Amino acid sequence: MKNIKKEIRQKMIQKRKSLSTNDLKDKSLQILKQLQGVESYKNATRLMTYVPFQEEIHTTLIIEDFLSRNREVYIPVTQPKEKKIIVSRLLDLEKDLETGHFGVLEPKAFALRPTDPKEIDLIIVPGLAFTKSGYRIGYGGGYYDRFLPTLAHKPATIALALDFQVMDTLPLNDFDVPVDMIITESQVIDCKKHR
Ligand SMILES: Nc1ncnc2c1ncn2[C@@H]1O[C@H](COP(=O)(O)OP(=O)(O)OP(=O)(O)O)[C@@H](O)[C@H]1O
Ligand SMILES: [Mg+2]
Repeated sequence: MKNIKKEIRQKMIQKRKSLSTNDLKDKSLQILKQLQGVESYKNATRLMTYVPFQEEIHTTLIIEDFLSRNREVYIPVTQPKEKKIIVSRLLDLEKDLETGHFGVLEPKAFALRPTDPKEIDLIIVPGLAFTKSGYRIGYGGGYYDRFLPTLAHKPATIALALDFQVMDTLPLNDFDVPVDMIITESQVIDCKKHR
């Protein structure tokens, strides 16, 4: 089971690498357009999203869109020792961030603004592979599988994916937490309808 998940992760990372820079940019824009039509995005006032890493979809477009409408953006800061996520307010995409552990963009010391996640109403959840029912394979740290169940107010969750990342089936564990919706360059998937 662990090995199958690992193989899928590697396959998806490889496939993502084979996309051209322009292709990824175009698809990221298409995904942003789809997202802008989704109610939970239109209604959200406090959004949590990761900052893109390697060949991930350009969530910076979403951050810019959200900040330009004077809404609040929060980013996850991983705590590798405790395997926990801290949520930090992001005010300025240019000034607040620096490259941290594993090459991920993280808040600089002055820009670390820990916030109670119960304020958040929409979370963009990262992942490498998904099923239409919203189950996902992430990077293997179990960070989101631990974090999401701690949120008693159940914020909306959306995953962004390229079409090839949506698969018919995936190996799953009891602790895997599904998302509500998946948005790709060509479709908006209401995951609850597929469960
Ligand atoms: N709720 C949990 N409590 C304790 N350990 C957990 C929990 N969820 C996951 N884990 C641990 O985390 C490890 C990684 O889980 P998994 O392979 O599902 O990661 P992932 O879903 O790819 O990662 P992520 O959630 O960060 O995207 C597992 O070996 C599991 O033991
Ligand atoms: Mg998992």
